[in-house]
Amino acid sequence: MAQEDLFKKIVSHCKEYGFVFPSSEIYDGLGAVYDYGQYGVELKNNIKAFWWKSMTLLHENVVGIDSAIFMHPKIWQASGHVDAFNDPLIDNKDSKKRYRADILIEDYLAKLDEKIDKEVAKAAKRFGESFDAALYRETNPRVQGYLAEKNETLERFSKALNDNDLEAIRTIIIDKKIVCPISGTCNWTEVRQFNLMFATEMGSTADGASKIYLRPETAQGIFVNYLNVQKTGRMKLPFGIAQIGKAFRNEIVARQFIFRMREFEQMEMQFFVAPGEEMKWFEYWKKTRMAFHKSLGLGDNKYRYHDHEKLAHYANAATDIEYEMPFGFKEVEGIHSRTNYDLSRHEEFSGKKLRYFDPQTGESYIPYVVETSIGVDRLFLSLMCGAYCEEPTENGEMRTVLRLPAALAPIKLAVLPLVRKDGLDEKAREVVRELRFDFTCQYDEKDSIGKRYRRQDAIGTPYCITIDNQTMEDNTVTIRERDTMEQHRVAITDLRKEIAQKVDMGTLLRKIACDNHE
Ligand code: GAP
Repeated sequence: MAQEDLFKKIVSHCKEYGFVFPSSEIYDGLGAVYDYGQYGVELKNNIKAFWWKSMTLLHENVVGIDSAIFMHPKIWQASGHVDAFNDPLIDNKDSKKRYRADILIEDYLAKLDEKIDKEVAKAAKRFGESFDAALYRETNPRVQGYLAEKNETLERFSKALNDNDLEAIRTIIIDKKIVCPISGTCNWTEVRQFNLMFATEMGSTADGASKIYLRPETAQGIFVNYLNVQKTGRMKLPFGIAQIGKAFRNEIVARQFIFRMREFEQMEMQFFVAPGEEMKWFEYWKKTRMAFHKSLGLGDNKYRYHDHEKLAHYANAATDIEYEMPFGFKEVEGIHSRTNYDLSRHEEFSGKKLRYFDPQTGESYIPYVVETSIGVDRLFLSLMCGAYCEEPTENGEMRTVLRLPAALAPIKLAVLPLVRKDGLDEKAREVVRELRFDFTCQYDEKDSIGKRYRRQDAIGTPYCITIDNQTMEDNTVTIRERDTMEQHRVAITDLRKEIAQKVDMGTLLRKIACDNHE
C-alpha cells in the first residue's frame, strides 16, 4: 500500500474507532485542533503514565510538578520567546496561500532524496541480485547530480538559517524555482518573521489588563520552580524535574493530522547538572530516551537520531529522535543541552538569585540543564502508525489490527459470551464485574464472535475472553491473543493473575532499564 494511502487510512481509522476527532466538527472543525475520543483518551493516559513512570520510578533523582499554563509575561521575555520564537513566513501572491519558507525548502530537499531513491530502486530492478546500491550512489551521474544539488542547497539553507537571513531564504526559493502547490507559480512575497505565541489578556480592561501568553512550552514552568523543588525536596545536583501539560503554538503550516497542532501536550524533563557535566548527561539522556522508544516494540529500525545543524538560541547541543511515519522520518522528541541560559535569564529578569549551593565544593552557581521534550500527540501518532496493520486471516478475510503494546492498549480485555443464552451472558458479566477493578474491560454480546473479535482487533484490545458452554461446566474460559489469534483455556480464578502479567507496564519499564544497561 502506498504510504500516502496508509496514512489516510490511519487518520480515518482514528476517527471511525473513537480515537481522535476533529475539534468542533459540527462547525466544520478548527484548524489543527483535535479532540481525543473514548479510546484515544485511554491510550493517551497510558502513554502519559508510561512516560511519567519511566522518569520518576526509574530515576530516584527525578521528581514531577504541575505548573500553571498562565505565567508572568516577563517569563517569555526572559526565555527569548517574545523576540525569537518565530517562523519565517512567505505568501504566494497568486494563490494568496501562506507557507513556512523553511518548510518549502525542506520539502524541496526531501524531493531530491526521493528522486535518488527512485533511481536506485530502478537500477536495483534492472541489475538484480548483483546490484551494489552504495557503489551505484557513488558513481551514477544522475544520482551524483541530485546529490550535488542537495548538498549545495543544504549548505546555503543552513547558512541562511544561522545568519537569520530572510532575504537569502527567499533567494533559495526563487533560484530553485520552488512553486506554490496551489497556483503553480513562483510569485512570492518577502519572507517575514511570525511569532508563534498566542496572547490573551488577564484582568478587565478597566483595571488595566495585562497581556499574557498561553505557554508555548511547559519547560519554563519547571525553570521558575527549580529552586522551590530543590529546597523543599532537599535535592542535590544532578536532579531532574518532569512535567506533563498543554502547550500552544500558532503554527502557520498545521498539517499531517495530530503531528503539528495548535494546542498539544508535552512531556518535558529538565535535568539540572553542575557546569561542565552537561555533555555527559546529554549523552546519557540521548541513550535513555532512545531505549524508551525502542521498548514500545514498533521496530528498532523505525528510529534514528537527527543532530541539529542550527542550534536554538539557548542550546549548545541538540538532537531529535525521529520516527519513520508514513510521511517520512519525523521528530518525535527533542533532547537539548540548554546550558544555563534560561536560569541566568530568569535571574536577570526577576532580580532573584537562582543559584545552587554545592555542599561539596562550597560554591554557588547556576546549574546547567539537559532537557528531554516529547509531544504526547506525536508519540500517540507514532504508536498508531506503527501499530496499524491490515492482514489476511486463515479464512481468507482481511482484518485490521492495532498491534499496540498491551500495557498501553485502551481496553485490556473484552469478555464475550459465545451466545446470549444458557446463562453464558450472565457468567460473562460476572467475569467483568470481577476484573474491572484491575483492567479496562469491555463486555460485548452483539454480532457473531468473529465480528466481535474484529472490533476488538481494530481498537487494539490484546486479549479476548470467551465464555462458552464448557465454562458453565468447569469454570474455564478461552483467552484469545490479538496478534497470533491463538487461544488457550484458563480457569476463571487464574484470569486476573495471567492478564496482569501480560499487560504489566513494569515489563516495558524493565526493557528500558535493560537496554540502557542500568
Ligand atoms: N522545550 C523545548 C521544546 O518545546 P520543541 O522541539 O519545540 O522543544 C518539543 O518541542 C516537542 O514537542 C517536539 O519534539 C514535538 O514532539 C512536540 N511538539 C512541538 N510542536 C508541536 C506541535 N505543533 N504539535 C504537536 N507536537 C508538537
